[in-house]
Amino acid sequence: MPWSTKDMDTQLSRQSVWLRESWIWLLEQRVLRNWNGRGRPTALDVGCGPGFVMELLAHMFDVQGIDIDPVAVAEGRRRGFEIREADAHSLPFKDNSFDMIYCSFLLLWVDDPAKVLSEMTRVSRQWVVCLAEPDLGARIDFPEELLSLGRIAEEGVRGEGGDPLVGRKLRSIFQACGLEPEVGVHPGVWGIDKLREGTFEAWIDLAPVLTEWESGAFEKSAEAEAIAAEAIADGDTDGAVSALMGSDTALGLEAYEFILELSS
Ligand SMILES: C[S@@+](CC[C@H](N)C(=O)[O-])C[C@H]1O[C@@H](n2cnc3c(N)ncnc32)[C@H](O)[C@@H]1O
Repeated sequence: MPWSTKDMDTQLSRQSVWLRESWIWLLEQRVLRNWNGRGRPTALDVGCGPGFVMELLAHMFDVQGIDIDPVAVAEGRRRGFEIREADAHSLPFKDNSFDMIYCSFLLLWVDDPAKVLSEMTRVSRQWVVCLAEPDLGARIDFPEELLSLGRIAEEGVRGEGGDPLVGRKLRSIFQACGLEPEVGVHPGVWGIDKLREGTFEAWIDLAPVLTEWESGAFEKSAEAEAIAAEAIADGDTDGAVSALMGSDTALGLEAYEFILELSS
């Protein structure tokens, strides 16, 4: 992934803050309420990254994690969590090892989501929970100037090898693993401030995707991207925007410019 670890951590931390209330409500209602065991249930976070979700749930569960990325594993351990480096397609645990197995923002990145889910099912004694996976194709943007943002985000994830539409497939994936899924939607409504916050950082990475997709002028965009990245490093937002405006990412830039205008 081209994102730096710091960018990724910022994004993951933002996601867990956005979703924390939904997640805690869900786990209280569907899991803890039906817990008959002694003490706290044990849990495994599959694809835990640096452990933001483990941190959020640590007061409710005795939680461990696994992740395939050694950098994320090291960061999570540094933050005090018990994490093993492992592939979610082949979990290094015996059957029925944890009361609950959960994941968040994992299935979009794995090669075989059904295999991962069947491993999660094997290792779970009671609950298999997918806290959140995106469906970027279900996003609604308004007004018209912002319509391209959804397409940019979708192409961005696809360009990184992820499945931006995995959310709509969850029900069938769970069913294919012999589970009876309950599926819900986490609502999120973004005003201009939040859009700007999320979009600007992602912009530099997404510009080439858009360019290639719309005009094939990849090189020109890469050059603009480099100039814009330097301008951002110097705190020169206007310079970054004008560098990108010089490239051929017209459709996306219209959206971005619109956001800047509204927030100035
Ligand atoms: C978007 S991050 C989500 C992290 C965390 N679940 C959260 O919500 O904050 C996706 C994580 O899945 C991990 N991952 C991707 N493929 C994996 C696999 N096959 N096995 C284990 N972890 C994997 C990545 O290394 C990354 O840390």
